[in-house]
Amino acid sequence: MSHDHDHVRAVVWRDDALEVLDQRLLPREIRYQRLTTVAEVAEAIRCMVVRGAPAIGITAAYGVALAARAGYTGKRECWQISLQEDLNRLAASRPTAINLVWALQRMKRVIAEVADAPLERLLTEARAIHEEDIAANQRMGLLGANLLGERGAVLTHCNTGSLATGGYGTALGVIRAGYAAGLIERVYADETRPWLQGARLTAWELTQDGIPVTLLADSAAAALMRQGRVRWVIVGADRIAANGDVANKIGTYGLAVTARHHGVKFMVVAPASTVDLATPVGAAIPIEQRAAEELLNFNGYPVAAVGAEVWNPSFDVTPAELVDALVTERGVVLKPNLTKIAGMMGVVNPGSQMQAQVVA
Ligand code: MRU
Repeated sequence: MSHDHDHVRAVVWRDDALEVLDQRLLPREIRYQRLTTVAEVAEAIRCMVVRGAPAIGITAAYGVALAARAGYTGKRECWQISLQEDLNRLAASRPTAINLVWALQRMKRVIAEVADAPLERLLTEARAIHEEDIAANQRMGLLGANLLGERGAVLTHCNTGSLATGGYGTALGVIRAGYAAGLIERVYADETRPWLQGARLTAWELTQDGIPVTLLADSAAAALMRQGRVRWVIVGADRIAANGDVANKIGTYGLAVTARHHGVKFMVVAPASTVDLATPVGAAIPIEQRAAEELLNFNGYPVAAVGAEVWNPSFDVTPAELVDALVTERGVVLKPNLTKIAGMMGVVNPGSQMQAQVVA
């Protein structure tokens, strides 16, 4: 795991339990929470102890293994029925990231296949989901870095790194690979109001790995682009609709509009498990609304006028036409649309890096 510029792991299966790095406490405290029941796993996802679309999926997959351990009675029908309730509980923990549903579907297929002693088999599947995610990220890192062109600075939003995935990261994976290749000199990180994934997590992760990072208020991004200081905006995704519309952390849409206005390129990096062919367009993606307290309070202190109401969507949708490049482990899609995404999703095991599919 000591890949260059990649030293953080948020989700670890250790001594028969799931350990997740508590992201609510970062960067002031590094503390892993030990989860031994499915209820604890669902709660950790809901309250964002663990967050980021791929990391949520991986965590839920391990949660299914924990559920099977608790529910396995030796009688096939009984434990499979009791498990359904646990799967529903996990699926309801956060609504926007499709990786959660995708991972649970994979676990469900295994549940349907195994007659008895399910724990080992489910754990193997969860581990496979975890390892495949890291491999996908490393591959996307190379594919995305190949698009960067001349050396320069990039802007990113939210946290899409090792903390948000099995390891290495999606957009941050491209940034890691681009930095290692000498193509990225500096990363500008939006602080990402209101939960501060950029300030607390991305800036921490990049400093841990020795990559130069400059933090900015979300509202400073347009001025940064106007001054010509970034060549690319690189972000992740929570769900990509069949037509290429992208749901990602609130603020992403504004960045995409601003990037287009200033001639800055906009790259979305996400594993194929984030592509949801069953959701035709972005408008059909469920957007999580989070608690008003996230805006009314700061660090536990009330900061807003008493009586103010709050609109706090956790994600927004960027229309496909504003995306210059979509990078998945299956290849690169330039200017994504329905046809190109369908083609990309139809590609089975594109093989080595050299055979990477580029759909222009
Ligand atoms: O609310 P969060 O922190 O879970 O939101 C995370 C994001 O929006 C990320 O950009 C997305 O999940 C991609 S992470 C590789």
